[in-house]
Amino acid sequence: MVMACQAQAADLEAGEKLFTRVCGGCHKVGPSARAAFGPELNGIFGRRAGSTEGYVYSPEMKASGIVWDREKLTAFVADPSEVVPGTKMRLWGISDAEKVDNLLAYLATFK
Ligand code: HEC
Repeated sequence: MVMACQAQAADLEAGEKLFTRVCGGCHKVGPSARAAFGPELNGIFGRRAGSTEGYVYSPEMKASGIVWDREKLTAFVADPSEVVPGTKMRLWGISDAEKVDNLLAYLATFK
């Protein structure tokens, strides 16, 4: 069995490419990141869902009560509306464990 591994084992470069290709059209990260089509994703680990300034979330996201962690993010990128029914995020889900590992390791570098 492949363990859900921590940042050291993940491929950050692959994670960055994946982010840019699959998420980057709607989300920004980094020092100059701000709300775009989707909310900026700096410090997403431990962040309460629907809580960034300057972004208008769906009522469902705001009311979800989620605090983003590895498990929630993994489930969300696999199927957003399964985790937050009514969310306005539309994504052809990613469920390949290795890809998700790389992606989350990359996101975790943005505090
Ligand atoms: C087509 C545009 C689009 C794409 C592509 C997209 N998202 Fe989103 N995302 C959104 C929107 C819009 C929201 C706000 C959802 C809401 O308010 O219901 C969102 C919300 C989120 C949230 C919740 C943020 C918060 O502040 O609570 C996370 C986490 C997230 N997206 C991660 C990702 C990741 C990771 C990817 C790439 C795998 C991705 N998204 C791809 C549009 C997108």
